[in-house]
Amino acid sequence: MTRNAKDKNCLPKIVTSLPGPKAKALIAKDKQYISSSYTRGAPVVAHRAYGAMIEDPDGNRFLDFSAGIAVNSTGHCHPNVVQAITEQASNLIHMSGTDFYYEPQIRLAETLARIAPGKSPKKIFFCNSGTEAIEASMKLARYYTKRPRFIAFQGAFHGRTFGGMSLSCSKVVHKKYFAPLLGQIDHIPYANCTRCMYNLTYPKCEMHCVRIIEEYYFKHVIPPEEVAAIVVEAIQGEGGYVVPPPEFHQSLKKLAEKYKILYVVDEVQSGMGRTGKMFAIEHWGIEPDILASAKGIASGLPLGAIIARADVMNWEPGTHASTFGGNPVACAAANATIQLLESELMDNAKKMGDILIKAFRQLMKKYTVIGDVRGHGLMIGIEFVKDRRTMEQDPKLRDAVVDEAYKYGLILLGCGYNTLRLCPPLVVNREQCEFVIETITRCLETLVLPVKHQ
Ligand SMILES: Cc1ncc(COP(=O)(O)O)c(C=O)c1O
Repeated sequence: MTRNAKDKNCLPKIVTSLPGPKAKALIAKDKQYISSSYTRGAPVVAHRAYGAMIEDPDGNRFLDFSAGIAVNSTGHCHPNVVQAITEQASNLIHMSGTDFYYEPQIRLAETLARIAPGKSPKKIFFCNSGTEAIEASMKLARYYTKRPRFIAFQGAFHGRTFGGMSLSCSKVVHKKYFAPLLGQIDHIPYANCTRCMYNLTYPKCEMHCVRIIEEYYFKHVIPPEEVAAIVVEAIQGEGGYVVPPPEFHQSLKKLAEKYKILYVVDEVQSGMGRTGKMFAIEHWGIEPDILASAKGIASGLPLGAIIARADVMNWEPGTHASTFGGNPVACAAANATIQLLESELMDNAKKMGDILIKAFRQLMKKYTVIGDVRGHGLMIGIEFVKDRRTMEQDPKLRDAVVDEAYKYGLILLGCGYNTLRLCPPLVVNREQCEFVIETITRCLETLVLPVKHQ
């Protein structure tokens, strides 16, 4: 049982019209001063938060099934994390871990090396965000292999810096007018069996999407001896919470090994206990050569890391560093976070995720507008379609569900073109999951014409 379950304030309570007057005033000021590049969803202004709950300045209470985009792994302001941050902040806030030494960073590196998938010894590089972890992975892969090229995937999202953006292939708006991007990157179809780019059906396809890399791309498009790394999300995140079939990562990794290409796994969104395992790639028993982590690693403090095989992370002093990366306070938060994930929250993610997935798969029987329900643990995608027979995507319905749920005090996010993502803090309890199931059902009752019922 998580801390949240005993909390009588663990469900939403809406006391004003939404947004309330104080929230409205802040949003107006935000509009005046904050970059217009941000994509805001529901007009939630966070004032105070605990567990999976967020209170706004008008006294409304929301259930947060977005977790600051899959970041607040241990919930908002978990007392153990707050204590670790407070103690660390009163002792040492900054010392640049790239130039000097401090215990929280060393302890965290030792822990990450222990919990990383696979038996090989590991080394860690610290940075501040997911996209920086991806940049570092790309630099290390080039440095180690002395090769220039990368293979990435359609639907991928790896961040907003030039490297991360160039590897990404999820929305045109991410790239429009930012060219020239990094060259030498080829995007190939991801194993999205719901919407196979080759129009094939799993398992009859015999993993065509992997076989074609060697049979076609390596003969006509990409010289394999020039490829430094295949960069792949364990489960695609922004691209629509796409879970690949069982053989995908295994056959892709085998191919990478054959051509001495590094296997770089982006676990920025899928990692840190979210899927019921510490890293999602463990569902497929793979040891990445380099693993990129961020988001949930420090429960909300900015921290990114790459965990690489020790023999791969052999770059010489001066090749790569970061002033703030591995900041002592962020490392202290991460140490407390991992302790909580290991002791209870990974298990809770699996249990609560199973409840949600089962309930939404059940709901598919009633609503043909639910095209697919997929995920592991608390990384769950629900695809909305006009009708399951045609699988025509319905992003408007997805957006309407997000808007409608907000009226009931439930914060949701979309991902991909037509998918709703459930990525709550890993502290959510059964009562909160039941509220989410009831609320989304209620949204569909309001939004979907009866004719769409089976
Ligand atoms: C899989 C993945 N990689 C990288 C990133 C970039 O992370 P950040 O926004 O911390 O730079 C994200 C962000 O959503 C992500 O989901």
